[in-house]
Amino acid sequence: MEFVSNCTADVITNAAQALKNGHLVAFPTETVYGLGADATNEKAVSRIYSVKGRPVGHPLIVHISSINKLDQWATNTPDYAIKLAREFWPGPMTLILPRTNLAKDYITGGQNNVGLRVPSQPIALALLKSFEDLGGQGVAAPSANRFGAVSPTTAEAVGEELGVYLDSKDLVLVGEKCLVGIESTIIDCTNSLPTILRPGAITSTQIENIVNFKVKNNVDNLIKTSGIFDKHYSPKAKIILDQKPLPGQGYIALSKFITPKGSIRIAAPKNNKEFAQMLYSALRICDQLGLNHVVIKQPKGEGISIAVRDRLKKAANNY
Ligand code: TXA
Ligand code: MG
Repeated sequence: MEFVSNCTADVITNAAQALKNGHLVAFPTETVYGLGADATNEKAVSRIYSVKGRPVGHPLIVHISSINKLDQWATNTPDYAIKLAREFWPGPMTLILPRTNLAKDYITGGQNNVGLRVPSQPIALALLKSFEDLGGQGVAAPSANRFGAVSPTTAEAVGEELGVYLDSKDLVLVGEKCLVGIESTIIDCTNSLPTILRPGAITSTQIENIVNFKVKNNVDNLIKTSGIFDKHYSPKAKIILDQKPLPGQGYIALSKFITPKGSIRIAAPKNNKEFAQMLYSALRICDQLGLNHVVIKQPKGEGISIAVRDRLKKAANNY
């Protein structure tokens, strides 16, 4: 595996060519780092599963460079989904839509629908455009972590997670720390009304404002999406929610809460947005420090804090 730091146009073209040649390219997005493969190359896609240690049949999100590529992968797209794509792409939103023949079972896990996303991070967008210029159709990319582990928000974290599993010709594109910090909002658009399958930075209120009707929230009742397994987004340290930490335990809470005596303050985000941004790197720090327990005071309220609480519940194995 090679880390590529200076993502010039030439570097991006080489990375796109590496994807075309069947190699894996990890890249930054505004949410978390993704582990990319040519979404039409079954062999390359199968390597995503082995590198992540992910169970086969767990569907992958296909990343495309713009809404103009949507029709290659999706069909019978409802009007409300087009509205959402126009409003929130490029951005931290994945739409689940009825698939075309291009989306094979090895992408969709045998389901008749496909997850699509246009990320906004400049390196990600440039890579996708360059890949499409070379004749590519889309890049399948789950979060670039081992299955069940914490998603990486830095290139360094990708190296820690997957370094030993990647081949010499696979690449890791180095970008800035991910701005959003938690994975995209996933919206099921295969029915007459949209359903949120995974909360994220694009909130149900934002979605309702665009589609003009109430959005169902299926976060507690997922089929084949994040969170159906016992362990997810989990560090080695045990996560305890909303209790007083004991001396020697880690502590993550908004900066307005003081550090209880004897506990080890890992992060003190100023607001809920910053909480999301730094959550995964804070969980990694707990493991680097070898902490056995970390107490997290959950952020309250609406907006992105809903997504933060969703990840925390799953990480604490507490849902
Ligand atoms: O922000 C993100 O979405 C990141 C970046 C890299 O784009 N990607 C990401 O992928 O989080 P992943 O594979 O770690 O999580 C995507 C979730 C998985 O739980 C998967 O099962 C679900 O989305 N998913 C993908 N395609 C689906 C489909 N067709 N139907 C239902 N769920 C799907
Ligand atoms: Mg993931």
